[in-house]
Amino acid sequence: MKVFAHRGASGHFPENTQSAIMAALNIGVDGIEVDVQSALDDYMIIHDTWLDRTTTGKGKVCLFTAAHIMQFDAGNGEKVPTLQQLFNWNNNQTLLNLELKHTFQLENFAAQLEQNIANKLITADNLLVSSFDHHQLAWLKQRLPWLNMGALTASIPLHYAKFAEQLAAYSIHIDKNFINQAFVDDAKQRGLKVYCYTVDKPADIQLLHNYGVDGVFTNYPAATKQHIAQLS
Ligand code: G3P
Ligand code: MG
Repeated sequence: MKVFAHRGASGHFPENTQSAIMAALNIGVDGIEVDVQSALDDYMIIHDTWLDRTTTGKGKVCLFTAAHIMQFDAGNGEKVPTLQQLFNWNNNQTLLNLELKHTFQLENFAAQLEQNIANKLITADNLLVSSFDHHQLAWLKQRLPWLNMGALTASIPLHYAKFAEQLAAYSIHIDKNFINQAFVDDAKQRGLKVYCYTVDKPADIQLLHNYGVDGVFTNYPAATKQHIAQLS
């Protein structure tokens, strides 16, 4: 099973910050998942629509400029990164799973992906864009047919993974509280990778391994790697 650092190595470092991203790279993860929100003039790596929980700022991310947001403390004196900083730090060392949250002006986002591919800061194989908003994914797939998409769900739809196949997704990312064997089997039959979030407990890792899950998002990537190595 692959190990994706959820919001970076967020169990030990402030989520979605440089230290969490660097720690994940040092651990040698299979990928790093981060959350992307639109600010007024840039894309920021932050989970919530509001600045309040993870920074010293208050208010909606989308109402501030990037420069303004970067004045706030995102934990341990760190700043909220921009999407471009993430590409620069990663420098194509591992896969980046960009989860689109309240993200708009997708044309600018698509152009930024193309620019980073052209500059060799990321390869297409190392990019995976996911969202709970499947309309965003459908739009992006039209605009960038080469882009790998991860269809997010926190439910077991009536037709299981059919929606992800319809999106021409690469993978399906499902909440550990809803996953079951029937869903995994259906997704795999449709040629989709199955990744599960957010998985930190050894008992869950064992269960997902038994289901045939391809990868997990974890806040503790080093420990999770160790647990996976010991699976029966
Ligand atoms: O991308 C997987 C997972 O991160 C989705 O939920 O709320 O942690 O972004 P959340
Ligand atoms: Mg996320």
